[in-house]
Amino acid sequence: MNVCVIGTGYVGLVTGAVFADLGNDVVCVDNNEEKVEKLKNCIMPIYEPGLEEMVRRNLEDGRISFTTNTGEGVRRSDVVFIAVGTPAADDGSTDLSYVETVAREIAQHIDRYKIVVNKSTVPPGTGDFVRSILEANKRRRIDFDVVSNPEFLKEGSAIKDSLEPDRIVIGAPCQNVAMSLLELYAPLEAPMLITDVYSAEMIKYASNAFLATKISFINSVANICEAIGADVTLVAKGMGSDKRIGKEFLMAGLGYGGSCFPKDTLSMIHTARKFQQPFPILDAVVETNEDRVPRFLERIRAIVGDLKDKRFGVLGLAFKPDTDDMRDAKSVEIINSLAEAGAKFRCYDPIAMENAKPLLPDDVEYASNPYEVAEDADAIIIMTEWKEFRGLKLENMRDKMRRPLIFDGRNIYPLDRMERLGFEYVSIGRKALLAQATAPVVAPVTV
Ligand code: UDX
Ligand code: UDX
Repeated sequence: MNVCVIGTGYVGLVTGAVFADLGNDVVCVDNNEEKVEKLKNCIMPIYEPGLEEMVRRNLEDGRISFTTNTGEGVRRSDVVFIAVGTPAADDGSTDLSYVETVAREIAQHIDRYKIVVNKSTVPPGTGDFVRSILEANKRRRIDFDVVSNPEFLKEGSAIKDSLEPDRIVIGAPCQNVAMSLLELYAPLEAPMLITDVYSAEMIKYASNAFLATKISFINSVANICEAIGADVTLVAKGMGSDKRIGKEFLMAGLGYGGSCFPKDTLSMIHTARKFQQPFPILDAVVETNEDRVPRFLERIRAIVGDLKDKRFGVLGLAFKPDTDDMRDAKSVEIINSLAEAGAKFRCYDPIAMENAKPLLPDDVEYASNPYEVAEDADAIIIMTEWKEFRGLKLENMRDKMRRPLIFDGRNIYPLDRMERLGFEYVSIGRKALLAQATAPVVAPVTV
């Protein structure tokens, strides 16, 4: 099939590469010339495991091409995917201006029947919005259909998630249109769900909101665990073993970040209000998430004391492992806040340091390996659970530190190992290991 994907961000580029790999003829369009030039030369604008190899083999075989020319992409294709960003507006609603711009461009160039697919995460009703823009701006009497085909890929495992999805959701105005789109996905042999357009749009929002709810739920459980001396990782394991609950998305930590959950939860709340259907659970999910970093900062301040000229080593900057994405990364808020009080930083992230630099204070130092962050550090803060941090020789790091103190925002080390190695170790929802002289973070409670 001839496919056009507009927007070569995390979603669009992976989607285009995967369709090409499945044997389709794909044109990827982006209005960023520099990005398109790089992609033509197989230089990836983002880090995503396996993506470069996939794009390379499809470029070589002529199944994928890149252009800034929307008209060329639209004319060549039977199906046009819209995969541009949909950021949050100031009032929490979704800013659909990029979607609108692209819909107008498609309308200008549509020359025969096409299916226009919303791949971007958009609020319910956006299918109608896109349809109205196409209708109002098309230059000829040409028929088209608008479909919602939400994307569930996670950054860092986007290729795998796209090739082995839990489900494919197609929200179409009628069965025939849905069937044409299904053809594209047939080689994946994944469960398919055909719905109306509104329901498909809701599935995406409701899924992200529910996953965010799981995270805020376990983070609230973690707070109680800290107060009573329980271990949230064991609690999550026990809960997750119940199939009805499921093991995933029960990792307590610094709260959810990234480009999706923060804006999608706000957008869902906004949609609920718009239709006079308040969603108090989701209000609490957002509030709980917003409290994660201040709470963590409070613990750091309580234990480290005066921050002036205190040296912190930082492991991990990206909002999650296996990505260079810094959108809503908790490291930014934490480092900037401590730096304001005079703290100094040396940071290490395997991939995201370049993207992080513009977001962090100028005097932050960057290390070439994780061990360097330990030198003369008053404490290390772990922000992202990169796999390579789990295997570090912690005793080598301990010996370089002024104080063997680790604040672990992602619970990557077992408590008994840290105790054996003589670290002071403060993690999330677990007992804090602190030197006798230091006051406990949370006063013990008698139960
Ligand atoms: C995606 C989805 O599209 C978004 O709805 C979802 O919520 C998060 O994931 P993402 O791929 O992360 O967004 O967006 P981004 O990395 O910002 O990429 C969007 C691309 O579209 C950029 O390369 C931008 O240059 C391009 N673009 C934007 C256009 O080509 N035309 C425009 O008019 C606007
Ligand atoms: C998310 C959805 O998972 C995906 O289906 C959708 O298409 C896009 O949004 P993504 O934002 O790439 O994907 O990453 P995800 O792995 O979901 O993590 C989001 C945030 O939640 C990260 O900040 C992560 O650290 C946090 N998280 C995740 C937790 O704090 N605990 C968990 O158990 C899982």
